[in-house]
Amino acid sequence: MNFLRMSELNLTDKVVLIREDLNVPIKDGKVTSDARLQASLPTIKMALEKGAAVIVCSHLGRPTEGNPEAVYSLAPVADYLTEKLSSQLSTPVRLNSDYLTQGANVKSGEVVLLENVRFNDGEKKNDATLAKKYADLCDVFVMDAFGTAHRAQASTEGVTQAMRQADKTVCAGPLLAAELDALSLALETPAQPMLAIVGGSKVSTKLEVLHSLAEVCTQIIVGGGIANTFLAAQGHSVGASLYEADLLDTARDIMTKTEILLPEAIGDNDMILDIAPESAKQLADAIINAKTILWNGPVGVFEVDAFGQGTQILATAVRDSDGFSIAGGGDTLAAIDKYQVADGVSYMSTGGGAFLEFVEGKVLPAVAALQIDA
Ligand code: 3PG
Repeated sequence: MNFLRMSELNLTDKVVLIREDLNVPIKDGKVTSDARLQASLPTIKMALEKGAAVIVCSHLGRPTEGNPEAVYSLAPVADYLTEKLSSQLSTPVRLNSDYLTQGANVKSGEVVLLENVRFNDGEKKNDATLAKKYADLCDVFVMDAFGTAHRAQASTEGVTQAMRQADKTVCAGPLLAAELDALSLALETPAQPMLAIVGGSKVSTKLEVLHSLAEVCTQIIVGGGIANTFLAAQGHSVGASLYEADLLDTARDIMTKTEILLPEAIGDNDMILDIAPESAKQLADAIINAKTILWNGPVGVFEVDAFGQGTQILATAVRDSDGFSIAGGGDTLAAIDKYQVADGVSYMSTGGGAFLEFVEGKVLPAVAALQIDA
């Protein structure tokens, strides 16, 4: 797919609006996990280095439109950005709440953060009038929010269309471009054998992902509650663990397309909560031998140390493998963080739902809107 990249553009004295996904957990007014914020910093820094006046926008959580509650304010993110960008900024990052009526008022070398776009009526409905108001704020629109690229909303897809109608420049930011490059590498032309690790509580939420991955992967390790349904489909007892009885045929169908590696489970009060260590070591061997690895979802209740050993063994194998590895989803990144294996993971995606939809082969509307002719 062809799209303009921000890195190619001259932004001197241009007002640039960057859509980031700054949807991060916040507790007591402080950001508690900053992976997405860290990932957005190089884009903002690059725009500043290129001499732009920088406006950043994002959603946070799922507030009711038209009802701005303080708990969904991006104020803690403005503080975070001020601290992280202090060496490049002479003034703090300003949080702007009245930009729809008063404009953004930003000069070259400054960064203004727009208050949560989901406070605005029409954001989620992709209202064209609202999208035009965003477009009116800037000379160049940079779509960098991979984590929100599966949402066709006014600050993602709508503003891109409004910019085009006004004959203004739209481009992909470096983070979005890197995400698309890494995922395309893993899914379009994967070095084989390719192995996927798919965890999570239910097959039903990962059905399309499993079907798509079955087409490209030599092997898939299934873990968490998903494994229970596959174990049950093979006629094994899963004790008191939950499984989806109506998906047994689907599980069998997936097993005809690719090799499903099933953990031997250990139970606690007859509930499957982790992979038995011996079984995890066998799975680790498969991971070490893979040339491409895609990981989404935890394979045990790793948040509880007593049930984290299986996830740790698999995470360590991903780190030690020479294959190209890509990981996505909040729980997966939390496991990578907990077991400190990030250095050995080739690419960590900032996308949750967007990552899954890309893997499912769906078109991400905010990415499709960036497309230009070859
Ligand atoms: C996410 O966290 O997956 C993205 O920020 C999208 O958020 P949403 O599911 O509320 O649209």
